[in-house]
Amino acid sequence: MKFLMVCLGNICRSPLAQGVLESKIGSEHQVDSAGTSNYHVGQKPDKRSIEVAAQNGIDISHQKSRHFKKSDFEDFDIIYVMDKSNFEDVCQLTTDQGHRAKVKLLLSELSDPSLEEVPDPYYGGKKGFEEVYALVDKATDAIAKELIP
Ligand code: 4NP
Repeated sequence: MKFLMVCLGNICRSPLAQGVLESKIGSEHQVDSAGTSNYHVGQKPDKRSIEVAAQNGIDISHQKSRHFKKSDFEDFDIIYVMDKSNFEDVCQLTTDQGHRAKVKLLLSELSDPSLEEVPDPYYGGKKGFEEVYALVDKATDAIAKELIP
């Protein structure tokens, strides 16, 4: 399976989601991440994301931000977005119903109606990044479990 994690800047949430999912699944699967904006293209993840990942034994420091592109709809099986605004931005790039069907809120994997969005932690403090990690950890557990035959 090929998974794409998407957020706005591709420096805070989706790099963490990529690194955490990669750590839980086999190398026969692929994970990448991208941003709906080009604000931080080419940059490493935010140092707060690098730090919270490292505290949990995961190295995401080699990742580089890239802009979501239309060909991602063809190249990936599932496109996980962090929030509803990412969902709108990604879906606006295609009218193809098959492409749109690949786009899911990451937290929809939790089947908990009270958890819909991974909040944007960019303008907050360290605690926000720890919350993002906890949500991403739960959701990727559910994804990894589904992959076990
Ligand atoms: P991300 O967080 O979408 O989780 O990578 C953000 C990063 C940068 C900005 C906003 C959110 N920004 O406005 O530059």
